[in-house]
Amino acid sequence: MHGLPRRLHHAARAAATGLFLSGCYGHQSVLDPAGAGARRIADLWWLMLIVATAVFLVVIGLATYAVLKRGRPTPERMESDDARSAKWVAVGAGTTLTILIAFLLSSFWVARENRALHGQETLVIEVTGHQWWWEVRYKDRVPSRIVRTANEIHLPVDRPVLLELSSRDVIHSLWVPNLGGKLDLVPGRTNRHWLKPERTGVFRGQCAEFCGIQHARMGLVVVVESDEDFADWLTRQRRPAAFPEGISARRGLEVFRRAPCGMCHTIRGTDAGGTAGPDLTHFGSRRMLAAGTLPNNRGNLGSWLVDAQRVKPGNHMPNVKLAAEDLQALLSYLTMLD
Ligand code: CUA
Repeated sequence: MHGLPRRLHHAARAAATGLFLSGCYGHQSVLDPAGAGARRIADLWWLMLIVATAVFLVVIGLATYAVLKRGRPTPERMESDDARSAKWVAVGAGTTLTILIAFLLSSFWVARENRALHGQETLVIEVTGHQWWWEVRYKDRVPSRIVRTANEIHLPVDRPVLLELSSRDVIHSLWVPNLGGKLDLVPGRTNRHWLKPERTGVFRGQCAEFCGIQHARMGLVVVVESDEDFADWLTRQRRPAAFPEGISARRGLEVFRRAPCGMCHTIRGTDAGGTAGPDLTHFGSRRMLAAGTLPNNRGNLGSWLVDAQRVKPGNHMPNVKLAAEDLQALLSYLTMLD
């Protein structure tokens, strides 16, 4: 794609950036590709839009011409018109068929190219869908180097990555429009999805298959960064949780231990080892709370802990009754887990 599509591309990208200045939470747009797969899909989309627009204009033009130019019908004229229309109908049908076949072939080509990263991956990440959050696991042959996080995926730029998708409950679908196409997460099977980010940035992803009452609040953040930044991030995530500093945070750890939090959540380095909910070992380093529902800060975390059911009705986080000081202590502890 050159010339006009390129320029439209840039205009769309500028508009997308302007409209979604949500900064560190990322934006999502298929018209602002930042990955090899998304770029091919966007090019195909522009091709289809331009050809379809041209066809539309030609058809409307011819129809207008026919209406304006029609004369009084006579038996002789109608006979000669019939012969001529048969010719033009054949030309129209031939052109339509050619265009549709060209579209079909280019779609096949894009799908094939997007799967061509098969076997080239430098990183394998397991993404498991839950109602309504994403469990993320960076695989490693050394078990102690495996990283578990939630709702936020970090990727190194320009490296093919394999995502192994599955689900713990119902069918979900992973879609990060800026990076590539979407693929379902199906319980009981593993679907493989390749991404190759081509530009650093923060992008938003979204569950793209209706999966229950909070389907709309099943978002994720994808952070594409340089090799060094990614390696730093991975090293930090491999560490056990930070030890609480200060009286409040230390009391927060005690509150966390006494409350039923550890039944569902893991904090590596403590005795909390639940797996029903997100791993909280480096919770404070994440940008968003409750799968893209709220920016992760102390205030939002407070309202989440006090009444998670009001923030995201139907989610599996129970409301935990805490005294005000215990809540403040727990907030101090969780926010320092970076
Ligand atoms: Cu998960 Cu929709």
